Amino acid sequence: MQGVTVVDHPLIQHKLTLMRDKNTSTASFRRLLFEISHLLCYETTRDLETEEVEIETPIQPMMAPKLSGKKLVFASVLRAGDGLLEGMLDLVPAARVAHIGLYRDPETLQPVEYYFKAPEDLSDRLVIVLDPMLATSNSVSAAVTKLKERGAHNIRFVCLLAAPEGVERFTKNHPDVPVVTAAIDERLNDHGYIVPGLGDAGDRMFGTK
Ligand code: URA
Repeated sequence: MQGVTVVDHPLIQHKLTLMRDKNTSTASFRRLLFEISHLLCYETTRDLETEEVEIETPIQPMMAPKLSGKKLVFASVLRAGDGLLEGMLDLVPAARVAHIGLYRDPETLQPVEYYFKAPEDLSDRLVIVLDPMLATSNSVSAAVTKLKERGAHNIRFVCLLAAPEGVERFTKNHPDVPVVTAAIDERLNDHGYIVPGLGDAGDRMFGTK
């Protein structure tokens, strides 16, 4: 997998439209993100390597494919990343999970890490970074930099919505990290929100505003 993939499946687009609607309730928003995350996971993992193993069906022995290599890691960028995490774990229940917390310094406007917890051995695992909104790209770029410092070198990034500015910056900072998104919107506004977007994903998911 390489570059930027926009998953324009009709089911995803339909659900995304419902999520964008400002009249959609918190419960429905969360549910829709959960549903879409399954479909994004399916796309992001479609080229995972498999190996043939010997099993016995009730009828006869056979060689059949199983995922090979070490368990993959889902890295959630707090807090909105957790909205994608549950659905991903539904499909890959044996995956490991990393959490990365960043806030924006009000003076420098740069992301500052306040929490990082990840499995020790990142170097030989696929790490799938989760953050629903690729806006300025500051926080997710910093999260990916940190994961690389901790040894990860096989990384993919899954979001729900992206701004063209964020895609440009992220792919410049991390050209080796493929991006999977459900849509690329028009632009960022002066407050760093994606236009037309869906508002603040964390607030809509957790009902905090
Ligand atoms: N984060 C959000 O939750 N929404 C945006 O539009 C941009 C960043």
